[in-house]
Amino acid sequence: MKGKFIVIEGIDGCGKTTQIDKISSWLPSSGLMEKNSKLVKTREPGGSLLGRKLRSLILDNNKNNKPSSLTELLLYSADRAEHVSKIISPALENNNWVLSDRFCDSTLAYQGYGRNINLEIIKNIESIVCQGKYPDLTIFLEISAKDSILRRKNLIPDRIESEGIKFLEKVNEGFKLIAKEKNWKVISATKNINEISNEIKETLLKNFHN
Ligand code: TMP
Repeated sequence: MKGKFIVIEGIDGCGKTTQIDKISSWLPSSGLMEKNSKLVKTREPGGSLLGRKLRSLILDNNKNNKPSSLTELLLYSADRAEHVSKIISPALENNNWVLSDRFCDSTLAYQGYGRNINLEIIKNIESIVCQGKYPDLTIFLEISAKDSILRRKNLIPDRIESEGIKFLEKVNEGFKLIAKEKNWKVISATKNINEISNEIKETLLKNFHN
């Protein structure tokens, strides 16, 4: 049996990180994973060693370092190529499970629907960088752009988070379309933290219990 690849997606402020922390402390004792299998908790951008450096370049708030949309797409793609090669593929091939905060559909949503880069170009690059590794399950935490901004109002935004509500609305619409097309599990991020994590647990049990 190979390990499973689970991804959580959603716009900034949807609570992905909190849920990933909760699920990663539950999954290893859930009975779903084989005894000798480990859980690799990771994220994009920044899941690999080189990726951590790419993350700080990509999200740098200094206006002089703002990449063009194409450069931005390629930086996220470079981060993903390294992430798949060094972290995701080895983990899955060793029968370990991977839980990732974002993966390739974030690029479709942010760079495709958000920045208006041609979706076919993004999918072509994706087919190279993902190296045949796609999620077994994607969970979408849905929140409105307005609530996302309200939730983050006391935090210092990174470069992408500084784009404002119009951009975030386009990204969110993109995520909703992708969620429908790919039949993702959609959970309202306005529920309370425990309700959301219980719903995620039920989804994992339903999908992976054998
Ligand atoms: P994070 O805050 O969820 O770690 O993600 C960092 C930012 O990068 C977030 O605003 C979403 C953005 N992003 C993209 O624009 N494209 C991508 O492919 C990924 C993975 C993230």
